[in-house]
Amino acid sequence: MIILACDHAGYPLKEEIKKFFNRENITTIDVGTYSTDSVDYPDFAKLGNAKVLESENNIGIYICGTGVGMSIVANRNSKIRAALCWNTTIASLARRHNNANVLILAGRYTRKRKAIRIVKEFLTTQFEAGRHAKRLKKLG
Ligand code: RB5
Repeated sequence: MIILACDHAGYPLKEEIKKFFNRENITTIDVGTYSTDSVDYPDFAKLGNAKVLESENNIGIYICGTGVGMSIVANRNSKIRAALCWNTTIASLARRHNNANVLILAGRYTRKRKAIRIVKEFLTTQFEAGRHAKRLKKLG
C-alpha cells in the first residue's frame, strides 16, 4: 500500500500525486493534511510512519516544503529509510542501494511532472541487496 503524508506546503503536490494514482487505479492511504491551512510537519510524518510500518510492503510518500523536515522526522524511526529525492537518478539509487521505504519530495521545489517521474522511478525500482544489504544491517 502507498501511504501519502504532507504538511500545508506539500499539500498542492500531494494532491497532484494523488490524482496520478487515481488515474492509474492505484489505491493510496492519505493521512493528511487535507488543505493548505498551516500545520506542523512532524505530526504528519509520524502519522505516515505509523501506517508505513503496518506492513513491510508499504511505501510512504511524504511531502513538505523543502522535504527536509519530513526527512528528519521520518528517519527518527529505525525501521524507516526515508530518501529526499530531487530527480529520478536519486530515486532509483535510493531504492537500489538504500532500500528506501519512504520517498520524500520537496513540494515547493519539485514541479508536478518531475515529481510524478520520480514517484514512478521509486515505485518500479527494486533493492539490489548484495553489498548494500550488509550496509543496511549496520543501521541497527
Ligand atoms: C513550512 O513552511 C515548511 O517549513 C515545511 O514545509 C518544511 O519545508 C520544513 O522542513
